[in-house]
Amino acid sequence: MRDAVVLYINEQRHEVADRHALRSLSDYLRRDCGLVGTKIVCSEGDCGACTVLVGRPAADGATLDYQPVDSCIRFLFQLDGCHVVTVEGLAEPGQLNGVQQAMVDCYGSQCGFCTPGFVMAMTGMLQQSRPQDDEAWRLGLTGNLCRCTGYEQILEAGAAAAEACEADALGKRYAPAEMLAEFASLATDDVEVRARLHDGDHCVAMPATLDAALVFLAKHPEAVIAAGATDLGVRANKSGQLPATILDLNRIADLDFVRHEEDAVVCGARATWATLASELRDAAPEFAAVLDRFGGPQIRAVGTIAGNIANGSPIADSLPFLFITEAAIEATSRDGVRWIPIGEFYHGYKQLELRPGELITAVRIPLPPADDLLKLYKVSRRRDLDISGFTAGIRLRLAGETIQSAWIALGGVGPTVVRAAKAEAFLQGRELSEDAFRAAGEIAVGEVTPISDVRGSAEYRRQLVRNVFLKFFHQTDQQPQIA
Ligand SMILES: Cc1cc2nc3c(=O)[nH]c(=O)nc-3n(C[C@H](O)[C@H](O)[C@H](O)COP(=O)(O)OP(=O)(O)OC[C@H]3O[C@@H](n4cnc5c(N)ncnc54)[C@H](O)[C@@H]3O)c2cc1C
Ligand code: FES
Ligand code: FES
Repeated sequence: MRDAVVLYINEQRHEVADRHALRSLSDYLRRDCGLVGTKIVCSEGDCGACTVLVGRPAADGATLDYQPVDSCIRFLFQLDGCHVVTVEGLAEPGQLNGVQQAMVDCYGSQCGFCTPGFVMAMTGMLQQSRPQDDEAWRLGLTGNLCRCTGYEQILEAGAAAAEACEADALGKRYAPAEMLAEFASLATDDVEVRARLHDGDHCVAMPATLDAALVFLAKHPEAVIAAGATDLGVRANKSGQLPATILDLNRIADLDFVRHEEDAVVCGARATWATLASELRDAAPEFAAVLDRFGGPQIRAVGTIAGNIANGSPIADSLPFLFITEAAIEATSRDGVRWIPIGEFYHGYKQLELRPGELITAVRIPLPPADDLLKLYKVSRRRDLDISGFTAGIRLRLAGETIQSAWIALGGVGPTVVRAAKAEAFLQGRELSEDAFRAAGEIAVGEVTPISDVRGSAEYRRQLVRNVFLKFFHQTDQQPQIA
């Protein structure tokens, strides 16, 4: 059993043990490494000022795959076997890389506080592909906020950098062979870190296999599971406290998969939103479009489907789709495996049908036939990088003009996502008409129990329920096929 985390930062090897392994990456970079180019503004994944690139061994085994990550909500214990590149590591001291030069040439920086984060996100985009236009740059930078320059110059810098930068610049700057060899030799170790913090003793297990994780969980049923830690990291920063016992899933390769079956897709618990957005683009285009607005790229790079489900928020963006496709959740413990229909997974606000010693290992999503009508809705105050105030998913199966079956899920209008069973029953057997949808919306309002909070009043949310039925009718009227 190893008791230290091994990672590389700008090609320098770091071995981190004891309480240090429980710190955030941004804190370690700034305080211990003197890499203060990484800035901290919000500490909750909302602004991107702390963006770094994290390289993990790619599927080919010969390269590192770099993803942008908010270092303020990434724990060091999650970075075993990773290469972290910070803004200081993009070029030789005193020199600028192509993106930095383009930001200078295009006046992309004023106070400069957001600039390292933008530079890292842009370098990450160029590492993965060549964004073709302003819209591609805009979408890739939704995780970064600038309060003074204005985005036009930054987008111009992106276009200029795309012309000037060579492909795989990081792969060339940091020949990965030595790091990859060490990461491969460490990959099968189980790792466990113990530390005493101001609030008591802590233990973090980072097993390499599912079996080892289940053994740990059977011994420590109180352990809090960490996957992407986009929820957990924010909670820790806001409360100043970490759970006493954590089981981190980041090193379990077997949970990181997407399997396409004939009429379903099965996602491993560690499948990230970035992976799912690209894997489901053809199979579930409506869902992939919602995922494009899920957090920003830094959140999608690490946030997982299992984390979204287990966090249990009634406004989680994946849930309306999972409810109307009647997805099932695989829960695994040392006692075995069971599949739980998503409709039976929530007993109340954040109360899950998970037994002590169980964790989510996969999600099976049956894919609706192409001629079902299906729409998903996310209402938030800002289009990008915002938590929903209301969500909905509506799916219909028609026989000619008659509604044969309806699936309707509403989020943000009760302690859990609600299946509007009475509205579904009302629509069944009726012709498609505005009157039917108006009446169904009114029935659905009687099935929800919204509250008033910062994202909207209860009455506003009831109105959104009515509106979404009419919107669905007008969007799908005359369009029997999913676009
Ligand atoms: C800036 C920002 C933007 C966001 N935007 C959105 C958004 O647009 N839409 C949205 O829905 N959410 C959003 N979120 C919330 C969050 O990113 C998602 O809920 C994400 O999917 C959580 O996944 P994770 O892997 O990071 O979970 P973690 O933070 O690791 O875990 C979340 C919870 O799930 C539990 N858990 C994790 N994995 C398992 C498992 N395998 N078995 C059992 N329990 C498990 C953890 O113990 C924890 O309680 C946002 C968060 C941030 C910080
Ligand atoms: S400091 Fe704002 S995302 Fe990390
Ligand atoms: S340059 Fe000041 S916040 Fe962007």
